[in-house]
Parts: sequence; structure tokens; C-alpha cells
Amino acid sequence: MRVIHVNAQAPERSALREAAELLRGGGLVAFPTETVYGLGANALDANAVDRIYQAKGRPPINPLIVHVSTIAEARALTTNWTLAADRLAGAYWPGPITLVVRKAAHIPDIVTAGGDTVGLRVPGHPVALALIEMAGVPIAAPSANRSNQVSPTTAQHVARGLAGRVDLVIDAGATTIGIESTVVDATGDVPRILRPGMITRDAVARVAGSAEIAATASAGAPRSPGLLERHYAPGARVVLFTPASRDAVMGDARVALDMGRRVGGMLFGGSEQTLTLQVTMPADPDGYARALYAALHQMDDAECDAVLIELPPDTAAWAGVMDRLRRAAA
Ligand code: TXA
Ligand code: MG
Repeated sequence: MRVIHVNAQAPERSALREAAELLRGGGLVAFPTETVYGLGANALDANAVDRIYQAKGRPPINPLIVHVSTIAEARALTTNWTLAADRLAGAYWPGPITLVVRKAAHIPDIVTAGGDTVGLRVPGHPVALALIEMAGVPIAAPSANRSNQVSPTTAQHVARGLAGRVDLVIDAGATTIGIESTVVDATGDVPRILRPGMITRDAVARVAGSAEIAATASAGAPRSPGLLERHYAPGARVVLFTPASRDAVMGDARVALDMGRRVGGMLFGGSEQTLTLQVTMPADPDGYARALYAALHQMDDAECDAVLIELPPDTAAWAGVMDRLRRAAA
């Protein structure tokens, strides 16, 4: 597996040319976006997209996000560019929001898992944008991790999960947002948030007039199959705790440690000397999101049996982070 290094702000075009060629030829290229690293393939090439599912071990019922470099290219991939989609794209693209709209006929069914909608995103990372432009085709890309493992925010994380399963990795350092995009169903008048992210419900409502949050386990067919999976999970058992339960949880941890278990902690402060590994997490949502997956990867590396995570406040600004913590603990 080849790794090429590029400058995150001003990527060297000669380096990206090789990646663009690979994509056009049906290859798999892992590349940075502002959220997490993606595992990209030509979205219009069903065989190439199939390789994504194989490499990740991803269930075929879970649709992929298609990345483009302009709003005009997004509009060419849908039969119904809604007012909500237009307003959200205008306000937040390039950026960490995915818009689900009716799919155009020429998008292969494997991309949308057979569904009649497609998730579209213009990523806000200079490397991703330049790569998509040079490839000249829309790029289907899930997060560049094995299915059900922690998403990658560095090229090293990608290599750990996908070494030997991807043709090329573009390394541009750590991503800045740190958790995946907000996924919004924009097929109707009122946008529905299918996956929370750092673009909040309020930010969606401000631009689109209103916004709903989809129930995670709604009756009937799931609108976002990825919502139903145990995602973003480290190998260890994750225990979430509040200040009120801290003493009890640390007491249990000491018993486990005495039995020879490895117990990690992701805390806001107040060191617990006895833990196998401790990471102090940023107290603001942006900083926390940026640090979250790297901390979970560290817990995996330290072969922790359990990870104790101090919950942030349950406020709107923390909704994206909270969602990932709850999934990690599910
Ligand atoms: O930030 C991100 O979104 C990253 C970067 C690489 O762009 N990508 C990412 O992809 O997180 P993935 O495949 O790991 O997650 C995509 C999510 C899944 O929960 C999937 O079910 C949902 O988006 N999704 C994709 N297409 C959909 C559709 N047509 N309808 C409903 N949900 C969809
Ligand atoms: Mg993913």
C-alpha cells in the first residue's frame, strides 16, 4: 500500500495526479476530508464501488455518500434539487454536511444500496476538493475504516485498518472537524437530521426555516441504515459516566485493575492515577470532536478491556459528539 504525503492547505498537484488516475481507473484511494478520512472510488463505476464494500466488510444495505466539488455537480446527480437542499448547500458547502436527495438514474444502485435517494457532499478540505476536481468524476466515500471500527482522523489510523486493502493513501495530517458530517434528509420541505454532526440542528433550521431530528429506531424501513449499527466502536467495552457516578465507576475500575484488566479513561480532568491509560479531553465541543477518534484509537492500541468516558453536557452544541459516544457504548 502506497502512502503519499501532501500539504493540507496547498496540495502538490503532481502528487494528486497519481491518485486521480487511480480513481479514474477503478482503484481505491483513501484521502482526507475535514471530517474524517474517506475511502474513495469512482461513484459511477459499480465495480469500483463494490471494492469499497469488500475492503470495509460493509453490509450492502448501507448506502455511501457521493462527494463532488461544486453545487452544480451535485445538482446533476439528483432528479429533485429541493429548496431545502439549495439553501443548506449554499450556506454550508464546502463543509461537513451531507444532503440526501432523490437520486439520478445514472448513479449505480450499489452506491445507494438500492434506494432511490443519494447522499451528496462537497467536502471542505483542499485535498479532497482538488482530488475530486482532478479525477473529474463523483467520488463515493465512506469513512476509511473497517466496518464497525473507529473512524480514522489520520493516515496512520487508515493504514491500521485497511493496509493491503486500498491502492493508495493520501496523508495530509490530522483532520480538523474529527467526526463525520451531519446527514440531512433534504427530500422534503422540512429537513430531517439522520445523523448529528458539528453542523447542529439550530444551524440547519436557521438556514432552512425548520429542522427535525429523526428518531434513531423509527418504525418501518430505516432511512439511514448506518444509524442502526454499532458504529465508531473501539474494541473495548465503553462505559459512559457523569460526575454523579464518577466515584462508583472508579471504584469498579480499581477492582477490574486489581484483577489484571486494562482500563482506560477519557476524562475532562482530575487525574485517576491507577488507570492503565488516561487521556484528558478538551472541554469545548469542537476540540472534543477533533480529539475523540484519536483517543479511541489510543485506547485500542493500549489493548484496553474497558474505557471509561466522562460525558459532556447534554446540550445542542454537543449533539454530534454525544451521538458518537452513545454508539461507542451501545
Ligand atoms: O464526514 C463524512 O460523512 C465521511 C467523509 C468521508 O465524507 N463519510 C462518512 O461515510 O461518514 P459513512 O459511509 O461512514 O457514513 C455515511 C452515513 C451512513 O450512516 C449512511 O447510512 C448514511 O450516511 N447515508 C448515506 N446515503 C444515504 C441515503 N441515501 N439515505 C440515508 N442515509 C444515507
Ligand atoms: Mg463510517
